[in-house]
Amino acid sequence: MKNPLQVTIIDSFKEVHKINFKRYEYPNLMELIIDNYCEEIGDCGGRGMCKTCFVKLVKNPNKEDKDSLKINFTQDPNTMDYLLACQIIVDDCINEMTFKILNDN
Ligand code: FES
Repeated sequence: MKNPLQVTIIDSFKEVHKINFKRYEYPNLMELIIDNYCEEIGDCGGRGMCKTCFVKLVKNPNKEDKDSLKINFTQDPNTMDYLLACQIIVDDCINEMTFKILNDN
């Protein structure tokens, strides 16, 4: 049997959450975080306007390709340094990645 997909989230208090998910189980990473951890992010509901859902990719199993994070986005980001969780598609590409929530609220 295939291992479940898993993403690791480091929250604002530096607690580590390993979350199993199914491909396309959530519309985006922000919804996965809210459903599994309930951190207060995503004020605009995922429209890319509030900027409360910033995450930083801190572990990437695909890092051999420096120019591409191998993440599928609903909208391509302006920078790869800080990403909007609401624009990250929940699929196999983020399997085994670790994201840190940058929300200071
Ligand atoms: S939820 Fe508002 S920018 Fe991502």
